[in-house]
Amino acid sequence: GLGQEDQAILKHSSLASGIVEMTVRAPVVARSAKAGQFVRVLATDDGELIPLTLADWNEEAGTIDLVIQGMGTSTKLMNQMAVGDAFAGIAGPLGSPSHVQSFAEDETAVFAAGGVGLPAIYPIAKAHLEIGNHVTMIIGFRSADHLFWTGDDERMGLLKAQYGDKLDVIYCSNDGTFGIKGFVTTPLEEMLKAGNISNGRKIAEVISVGPPMMMRAVSDMTKPYGVPTVVSLNSIMVDATGMCGACMVPVLEDGKSLRLHACIDGPEFNAHSVEWDKFMPRFNQFKTQEVRSMELHGL
Ligand code: FES
Repeated sequence: GLGQEDQAILKHSSLASGIVEMTVRAPVVARSAKAGQFVRVLATDDGELIPLTLADWNEEAGTIDLVIQGMGTSTKLMNQMAVGDAFAGIAGPLGSPSHVQSFAEDETAVFAAGGVGLPAIYPIAKAHLEIGNHVTMIIGFRSADHLFWTGDDERMGLLKAQYGDKLDVIYCSNDGTFGIKGFVTTPLEEMLKAGNISNGRKIAEVISVGPPMMMRAVSDMTKPYGVPTVVSLNSIMVDATGMCGACMVPVLEDGKSLRLHACIDGPEFNAHSVEWDKFMPRFNQFKTQEVRSMELHGL
């Protein structure tokens, strides 16, 4: 029956323009998922594999939650699927779990997320809160028209209600229609200038997920202050097994250039080791094919 089949879509809702949240039956993934991991999703048998960060999961119900931004052919087709439809395949959980360590009472973890970076950092921030860490979440949206999860009865509101003073949430938008006017780097810069202090506590670590430009800006900003910074790199992935090389991340460690893979070595990386100049162009490596593919699918 409906919902009994693995990979069946049980819930489907539009969060904002082009952004869909789904609850999908995937008991094997839900049983072993850890914060920071992702799944490899195949919409149809002849489709392409898309890596999607787990936004949430429920072990008892055997379900996972995914937030999908329609950017290319596959993600747009996924967003057109409905309750009762099923994905052709979901593999995971993949990638190394986020390294969630305990910080001192006078320290805090600071998250900086843009757009659909929010569902990617949400489980990681929650994992920090669960072990008693103080957390600051800086969340950026393009404008008030693009926000999601911010209502009192939605995920961020519920998290705030549950953790109270342990969690400080700062919203910003590019045009100032919601929260502070600016980018996530706007409040972050103030914190760094104030002596690496957020909400009265020393910043122990910055964790950032969002558009590549944003993660690079965060990394460049924290580097001179020596604040440990982690980025979760949603590189283009093809096989997600470390074989194809599509997700290569150029990293410089101890003066040595390394070519790591987001799918097996990541998705989290020390932001200050990433060779951003070499890495940024990789996000456009399939641009021509993507545009052509969307035309063919009438998207
Ligand atoms: Fe192919 Fe990572 S996706 S090596």
